[in-house]
Amino acid sequence: MLVYRLPGTLDDEALTDLLWEAGATGLEERGGFVRASFGARTPLADTPELGSGEWLDEPDLDWQAEWKASLRPVRAGRITVVPGWLLPEVQAGQVPLIIEPGMAFGTGHHATTRMAIEALSALKLNGQRVLDVGSGSGVLALAASLLGASSALGLDIDPLTIPVALENARTNGYLPAAAGLKHPQSGRLLDFQEGSLSDELPWDDQPYGVLVANLYAELHDLLAPDYRSALQAGGTLILTGILESRLPLVRAALEREGFTGVQERQDGEWALVTASSGD
Ligand SMILES: C[S@@+](CC[C@H](N)C(=O)[O-])C[C@H]1O[C@@H](n2cnc3c(N)ncnc32)[C@H](O)[C@@H]1O
Repeated sequence: MLVYRLPGTLDDEALTDLLWEAGATGLEERGGFVRASFGARTPLADTPELGSGEWLDEPDLDWQAEWKASLRPVRAGRITVVPGWLLPEVQAGQVPLIIEPGMAFGTGHHATTRMAIEALSALKLNGQRVLDVGSGSGVLALAASLLGASSALGLDIDPLTIPVALENARTNGYLPAAAGLKHPQSGRLLDFQEGSLSDELPWDDQPYGVLVANLYAELHDLLAPDYRSALQAGGTLILTGILESRLPLVRAALEREGFTGVQERQDGEWALVTASSGD
């Protein structure tokens, strides 16, 4: 890749205009220098404003390959989230959860996803029905299912996430069933549907034992009454995506709706709250 590097910033419009006019195919700023990519050397030194630069012939980098190589398995409780090609790195005793990094949020690398999986991992999920609101890549519903939930349903308002989550489920061994997917050995059911809690849901007739939602504080505040009605008595609520500064909003919403046993933990600026829906 051919780069012309000269002192300056991208805020200097006169400079960037001159570089574009000279045929630059891309501009970036690094450490007080503007770096302009060119297909071929051009006589830039003839333009006084550009004369202070130098040509660099840099090796081409395959950014996708670099990024893939930098991905590591993420260990969260009993689950290790990995892209398929890192499966051999999962330690014995850990449950592998394969997520191919792609279009939907939820590779396990974000603190909120990690904390939510840890919270699921700390529960006895065997035989439980779990609802994941804002399922993205499907990572939390999948984690719940792999940890023993008899059925897990992921809801997301973004229709693009649904095929991604279904594909991730298939990658983890789930097969199409009469409704949604089923794990052939354990018989556990898993499904992903477009929608949200406030919608009239055909599957909403039976309350859930666990509800997990990685959204944001303002939405948790709005959805708190729906969380209460979606959960069975004594059900567990796991909320994350909450910035530490917004915790009071979530605390107040849970108190308003009669949740009990509220517990909080933090990872950097992000918080996770668990609570019980009471009797
Ligand atoms: C931060 S991502 C969480 C993804 C995944 N559950 C995880 O924990 O890594 C939030 C997801 O919630 C979805 N979402 C946003 N608002 C929603 C709502 N009101 N109801 C359902 N899903 C929603 C977004 O489309 C996005 O996929």
